[in-house]
Amino acid sequence: MKHFLTTEHWSQSSLQEMVDFARSLKKHKFQPLLKEKSVALLFFNPSLRTRTSFELGVHQLGGQVVVLQPGKDAWPIEFELGSVMDGEAEEHISEVAQVLSAYCDMIAVRAFPKFHNWQDDRQDKLITALANYASVPVINMETITHPCQELAHVMALQEQLGDLQGKKYVLTWTYHPKPLNTAVANSSLLIATKFGMDVTLLCPTEEYLLDPHYMQLGQSYSQAHGQELTVTHDIDTAYEGADVVYAKSWGALPYFGQWEKEKPIRDQYKHFMVDEAKMAKTNNALFSHCLPLRRNIKATDGVVDSENCIAIQEAENRLHVQKSIMNTLMNKV
Ligand code: CP
Repeated sequence: MKHFLTTEHWSQSSLQEMVDFARSLKKHKFQPLLKEKSVALLFFNPSLRTRTSFELGVHQLGGQVVVLQPGKDAWPIEFELGSVMDGEAEEHISEVAQVLSAYCDMIAVRAFPKFHNWQDDRQDKLITALANYASVPVINMETITHPCQELAHVMALQEQLGDLQGKKYVLTWTYHPKPLNTAVANSSLLIATKFGMDVTLLCPTEEYLLDPHYMQLGQSYSQAHGQELTVTHDIDTAYEGADVVYAKSWGALPYFGQWEKEKPIRDQYKHFMVDEAKMAKTNNALFSHCLPLRRNIKATDGVVDSENCIAIQEAENRLHVQKSIMNTLMNKV
């Protein structure tokens, strides 16, 4: 049995196979690939795209879906091993995983970090425990990475640019009034380097570097393609000649859980917003974002409404790649 927890566990060629099949599903939406199959979607956090695209995707493949929001319409869940459950949680992930495995053929989960302690959150304990106790494949709908978004992103880039090898790709930090999850930034770094792009990480200071695990993986994927992962804090250098600009905001890890200390630092960098002047320095770059996006905070209306913005195409591709992922996992059981 194979899970889809992170693209780290999948080769570039196997991810490409899923994207290729997603392309065929985009042309032929309705196929009975999940006939008589059922999928549980566990949402610990809000969603628009992920929930809609997974629910519709399962239906379009002839399967059944059940959506659960632990703590809202389902019991609050504990996921620490050996914990004395005298708090809010009414049941343990061990029983949840086994019961849902008895009912369903796949389980997908969204569980963001708790934002208290990065050393704890970086272990991705909830989805790891779920995958350990489940006897059916588990899909990551965003925890500390967002692998479904990665495939949708690559699919959209390939639709626009063809071969991605050597194309200059800029992952730029942007301002946001709240500290956000690093998941999409980690994922952007992983997938762009894995597919051989010439990747630059643009962020305000060293404090906004991503977790060393992802920085090192990005570097090793880059080197496997004969490239170097570039880090810069200089906006002009980063945008110069770029083919792709991907925007994301994230909280600085040294201040994880102490966000009041980070706020005056973050507030100095509102000018990292993607605007027309910055995009004019690029090689007529594509712009994208995972969405949701705060207009005129992360990117200007002019950038988001330009014909170079492929965020909607990327969001649509979530539907197609997730159907392909589910089909792959069903065939690997
Ligand atoms: N990009 C993304 O996952 O969107 P939602 O948070 O709306 O699901």
